[in-house]
Amino acid sequence: MTQKLNKTLVWGIPTRVFHWLLAISFTAAYILSDFEQFQSFHFAFGALAGGLLAGRIIWGLLGPRYSKFSDFPVTFNKITAFVKSIKNSAHVGHNPLASLAMLGIIFIGLATAISGYMLYQIENQSLIIPFEGDFIKETHEILANLFLILVIIHLAGIAVDAFVHKNDSAFFSIFTGQKKGSAPNASLNGFQKMFAVVWFVIAFSLFILAFNLPVTEQQDDHEKAKYEQEDD
Ligand code: HEM
Ligand code: HEM
Repeated sequence: MTQKLNKTLVWGIPTRVFHWLLAISFTAAYILSDFEQFQSFHFAFGALAGGLLAGRIIWGLLGPRYSKFSDFPVTFNKITAFVKSIKNSAHVGHNPLASLAMLGIIFIGLATAISGYMLYQIENQSLIIPFEGDFIKETHEILANLFLILVIIHLAGIAVDAFVHKNDSAFFSIFTGQKKGSAPNASLNGFQKMFAVVWFVIAFSLFILAFNLPVTEQQDDHEKAKYEQEDD
């Protein structure tokens, strides 16, 4: 593939679509969790985030260069070398600290969505577990808050990077897909293009399925009984 004036395609369209859909779905799921009247939207955006993140794991194994987990420089030596000379080290893909934050977001985020679905099933009494339902509720809330902390760290990292690497910060790359400097482009093969389509179709199907999850009377009663107990 020809390279444009010293620019490298780092994040192809699927990676950027994944990124912005994830940002929207996490933000919506988190904010809407506080409003009972938007419960179906909470489920839907939470499931969309879960579907996107599950697909991102496969993308990390079979996706294009820079998106692959094997291109994440997360060995101890690479992390310490990066921290020691943060100003002079340029990375085409994720830098070592960004890679850690990304892995955290991907796995904690997926665990958040799975625990949310388990919680829904428990509140509907269709999932019986050998421990207290409250344990899953707390787990779901803790994971969601860890997810939020990782997003804040991610945004702080982007801000520090923009400050330290004024002329070649990563900031615009998530909009344009490109970074300065010449390196091999992250071009997609046929399988990756097809996978990307299937990935987003499945994620949107999960959105619709979760939106239509019935909120049963049982669940309302379960919730009411709990609040009454707490009031006593
Ligand atoms: C809830 C909000 C957000 C979440 C959950 C999130 C999550 C992520 C994830 C998972 C990646 C890795 C992409 C991949 O390798 O597939 C990433 C990369 C990136 N994000 Fe975000 N993001 C959020 C908001 C933002 C915002 C508001 C910006 C600001 C422009 C931003 C800028 C970037 C940039 C520049 C990268 C590429 C970093 C690099 O080159 O190492 N993100 N983000
Ligand atoms: C990334 C995705 C998700 C995030 C960030 C998230 C976040 C949250 C948060 C912060 C709460 C606590 C609300 C509170 O009581 O203050 C919550 C509760 C809950 N979430 Fe999620 N959630 C996600 C995905 C899901 C999914 C996929 C489902 C089910 C399909 C789900 C079902 C629930 C349920 C049933 C509750 C408890 C509501 C209640 O009984 O008060 N969540 N979620």
